[in-house]
Formats: sequence, C-alpha cells, structure tokens
Amino acid sequence: MSTRRLRSKHLLDIESLTKEEIELILDTAVPFKDLFTKSVKKVSFLRGKTIVNIFYEPSTRTRTSFEIAEKRLSADVVNITVSESSVKKGESLLDTIRTLQAMKADIMVMRHSCPGACHLLASRLNASFINAGDGPHAHPTQALLDIFTIREKLGRVKGINVALIGDITFSRVARSNIWGLKKLGANVRVIGPATLIPKDIEKMGVKVYHNLEKGLEGIDVINILRIQRERQQQMLFPTIREYNRLFGIDETTLRRTDVLVMHPGPMNRGIEISDYIADSPQAVICQQVTNGVAVRMAVLYLIAGEGDLNEIND
Ligand code: CP
Repeated sequence: MSTRRLRSKHLLDIESLTKEEIELILDTAVPFKDLFTKSVKKVSFLRGKTIVNIFYEPSTRTRTSFEIAEKRLSADVVNITVSESSVKKGESLLDTIRTLQAMKADIMVMRHSCPGACHLLASRLNASFINAGDGPHAHPTQALLDIFTIREKLGRVKGINVALIGDITFSRVARSNIWGLKKLGANVRVIGPATLIPKDIEKMGVKVYHNLEKGLEGIDVINILRIQRERQQQMLFPTIREYNRLFGIDETTLRRTDVLVMHPGPMNRGIEISDYIADSPQAVICQQVTNGVAVRMAVLYLIAGEGDLNEIND
C-alpha cells in the first residue's frame, strides 16, 4: 500500500486539495472500512498522538464519527464541550485554542459558526487543524464521505450526474461537495428556490434549476440538504408547507427507484424528505454515516499517522 501523504498537515477545505489527494483519501478509506468487519476494529497508527475535538456548534454525526475514528486509530482523545468551558466566561477563540495547544495537542478538530475560523487558527498555531464545518463555508470530511459513498455505490464519480437540492446558500456541505465532485469530473446541478441559491453559483461550474421535475431529469444521485433555518435572518420562502410542495422529495416527486438518495443529516422529515424516501432501499443515509468513520480515519492517518496500511490485514 502507498506511503503517500497529503501536502498539508491541515484539512481546511476541499478547494485546497488536488484531484490526486482526494483520490488518495478515498482509496485510503477502503482498507479502513474493511477493518469494521473485524472483531477488533482498532489499529495503532495514531498511538501517542493527542487529538482535541472542539465543537462550537451542535453536532451528532461529525463529532461522534471523529471520536470513533480517532479511537480506532489508538489516539488519545479529548472532547471539549464548549457550553461547559471557559468560552462561557468570555475567553476568545484564539486564547482557547492556544491553551489547548500548550497542553501539546497534536490535532484539533474544530466546528465553528464563523467561516474561516479554522483557517485563521491554522495560520497562527502549530497543531494540525481539521475543519469539521465553519458556518456556511466548508465541511470537507462530509464532502469526502459523500463522494466515497457515490464511488462505492456507482463504481465511479467521473461523468455521474449529481443534484444538490434545497438550501444551497447556507450549506457548507453543498459548497464542499461541488468542489470535490467537479474535481473528480462529475456533472453537478443545484435545485432550489432562487432565494436559497447564490447568484454566482454557476461560476463553480454547476447548472441551476428552480423547477424540481426538470432538475431531476437524467439524474444519478440526489443529495438532499436540510433547510438551515438557524442561519437564515429572514424566511426565504413563504411557508415550510410551500417549500415541501415545490422542492420536497417524496414518492410522487421521485418516481425512479434507481436514483441514489443521499442526505448529510440531520434530516427534517416531512420538509425536504419524506419518511418513505428516507427509509427506502435507494437511500444510503446510514451508509454515509458508516463511511464517514472510514473517511475520517483515512484523513487522520494521512495527516499524522505512522505505519503501513498493510498492517490492517496482518
Ligand atoms: N452532517 C453533519 O455534519 O451532521 P452533524 O451536524 O450531526 O455533525
């Protein structure tokens, strides 16, 4: 197995990665996923490394998935609950992270509401930083696990027609997916109301549809995004009921059963996705979550791991 590594010791966004680096992460995640079928799901590639997970925004999937990935790699893991930390006493972001670095943390996995927060810290401090989502800007590991899932299910990414549906404006998942999918040669379109699609999104090489039926024509994969009401300053469509009627995915709007259905979670059932579609065999939402652990193990290994991947099969 290759001993290639990423050029940077950080993972801040997808645009900074080359096509080859994205493929390296996806390829490296494959043996890590194989590990999950074994009775002992643990390897020692990060033994002796200390990782701090600090989430300034809520998370179920990303935070837990990183923690499981880190523990399966034998790292020492610390989770900071921001609501119980000195952040509540007014400590600045930079001072908080500097304090954690002073305890010799090797890697910080951080989610923050401010776009660029992780980039700022990476430029000022010595630890490796992994962006676990910064406001509406980037969520690189989500995009990598989404692309891994597409490649696993369809056998390739190049030439696949992928639609991102819903709240594109406030979606870091959409932005990171577009960067990654385009780099790997997929055809990407976005579907949603004009108020939820940035005006210059076409510059990223995507097609825009405001009509769901037209947008779904010829599609291979749909990635349904959550309406992020917590980021919207004002209601950007008349009512939730209206949004569901025009852009909700259910058995009447998606009649083809060969389309791969993805959702990064958390889902708003009954708004952007129906129970029927969310629980249908064509939905790979739980498989995305499983793949998230493998992809995050690959990222951590490629950033700071020691040892040969062949050890997994020894
Ligand atoms: N997809 C995702 O980022 O989910 P969480 O907010 O639960 O981490």
